[in-house]
Amino acid sequence: MKSGEIRAKYLEFFEKKGHTVIPSSALVPENDPTTLFTGSGMQPLIPYLLGQKHPSGKRLTNSQKCFRAEDIEEVGDNRHTTFFEMLGNWSLGDYFKAEQLLWFFEFLTSVVGLDPNRLYVTVFSGDSANNIPKDEESIGIWKQLFAQKGIEAKDVELGSEQRGYDLGMQGGRIFAYDVKKNWWSRAGAPENMPAGEPGGPDSEVFYDFGTPHNETFGKYCHPNCDCGRFLEIGNSVFMEYQKQDDGSFAKLAQRNVDFGGGLERIVAASNDNSDIFTIDTLSAVIKKIEELSGASYEGNQTAFRVIADHIRGAVFMIGDGVLPSNTDRGYFVRRLLRRAVRYADVLNMKQGKFAELALPVIESYADHYSELHEYEALIKETIQKEESRFRETLANGLREFEKLSQEDISARDAFNLYQSYGFPLEVTVDLSKEKGIEVDEKGFAEEFKKHQEISRAGAEKKFKGGLADTKEETVRLHTAHHLLLAALRQVLGIHVHQRGSNITSERLRIDFSHPQKMATEELKQVEDLVNQKIAENLDMIRKEMPKEEAMKLGAEMEFGVKYGDMVSVYMAQDQQGNVFSKEFCGGPHAEGTGELGHFKILKEEAVSAGIRRIRAVLE
Ligand code: ALA
Repeated sequence: MKSGEIRAKYLEFFEKKGHTVIPSSALVPENDPTTLFTGSGMQPLIPYLLGQKHPSGKRLTNSQKCFRAEDIEEVGDNRHTTFFEMLGNWSLGDYFKAEQLLWFFEFLTSVVGLDPNRLYVTVFSGDSANNIPKDEESIGIWKQLFAQKGIEAKDVELGSEQRGYDLGMQGGRIFAYDVKKNWWSRAGAPENMPAGEPGGPDSEVFYDFGTPHNETFGKYCHPNCDCGRFLEIGNSVFMEYQKQDDGSFAKLAQRNVDFGGGLERIVAASNDNSDIFTIDTLSAVIKKIEELSGASYEGNQTAFRVIADHIRGAVFMIGDGVLPSNTDRGYFVRRLLRRAVRYADVLNMKQGKFAELALPVIESYADHYSELHEYEALIKETIQKEESRFRETLANGLREFEKLSQEDISARDAFNLYQSYGFPLEVTVDLSKEKGIEVDEKGFAEEFKKHQEISRAGAEKKFKGGLADTKEETVRLHTAHHLLLAALRQVLGIHVHQRGSNITSERLRIDFSHPQKMATEELKQVEDLVNQKIAENLDMIRKEMPKEEAMKLGAEMEFGVKYGDMVSVYMAQDQQGNVFSKEFCGGPHAEGTGELGHFKILKEEAVSAGIRRIRAVLE
């Protein structure tokens, strides 16, 4: 079956069971400053799992775009990817174990058509330290479900993963593992959870590809063995606990189900092919790589898989407004693209064709994720630019690497390769692996952090207050600057963020993220919108609030600036309270936008890759 088909059938199946289909959230979490990317379907639902009423009811389902940055180094085997789609269904204090396990089993066996003999399941073996009992209830439910298929399902207590390797399957079908394997929370095992975090025991389903066990992983095979015979295809979390301030666990007011299953993996199981890169969506990219490189997937699997995974991840990131840069989220996009370019070179792919790899991704997914169509031009152009920017320094960087690689690469040298030649750490690590030498990765991370802190401190000094003085003209231009940023985001998209500013009594200047030259019509739209907001005479209102609250409001932060716990936010809003602009800002500002006069853009130009500059005046 194809991915789109399984996705549609899953959503339809749960819709019939009374669930409302909710849209996928963006890869960039909206109100969650604790994490860079959305890595599971439940992340955007935390308040509702904790008891807040969801506007769409108690039964929800969707397919969520996920990105797990921590898996970037694992990519290359037959099943790891950074980006993936997670099929999810949730009970917010409604149904519980009996319905959940039945429905998922029914979906796998009756809808996807998997042979129940190839399914193995795991349950929670209990956590005596926290007084959380073994999940006997799920064992009972699984026994019944398998019995209905004529399968006698024996349960086996393994506890730790190591005992799994030592003792093997022992004829079992239901396996109990400890907190390391069968407990789920955003923070992992109970001891790693912060107070307030919800979590619970879970029950996973594994598909058995029947491939021979590889003893380098351990003596015997078992569902959680990493040899590749078993693939986890779904996880039902029974989220009914919450960690307390004193470290103990208490039951939440409601019993929730949080289910997540990797779409790609379920498709691979339905094809009975353990290589997830052979499913329709990923193999479309693999084919394109073959076409552009003349190389074949067989024999070059690592390179093909890295390219296919990374290009797909980058396409979705850019579609959600994350552009390549040297900091935070943008650095991940840069790493994905540059590492993929390097592997494309290893395959002798035609230069300058790299961005074409985005096409099969967009084609495979745009029906369900329309943002990919909407931002198609931006996606292609961003990838093209990133490739050429990397290429400008690639040859010199490779020469430098050759010189350094007589011995292991120190943190400083790895950092220099990054800073002077644009080599993300993975590129240096991949090259070093080919040479059989080591890179000081930990040292690199420290250098990187130090560097980011220095550049942040610099930015703070440079843009303090943003104003050259506090003359009346300067203050009015400062207010116009806020309207301009909001107008740019409205006209061009939410990928636009301020990257620098300078305001004198004569003119304002703003640097902002945007990958291409603005069209004349776009400039006119922006100018008109600012003038409209001046005509509406919005109030400039200052509010002090905790930083978290301001982030929740989605107030624009200044690039590279560190804020304290309490911040000041300026809103431009009308009498009805409709907010046009909100920014972290200390002021000063005009009281109302009506004081500003006529706004005019003088010039729009490039500053550096992905950064544009506008100069504007009030007349
Ligand atoms: N939230 C659970 C997971 O990510 C379903 O595995």
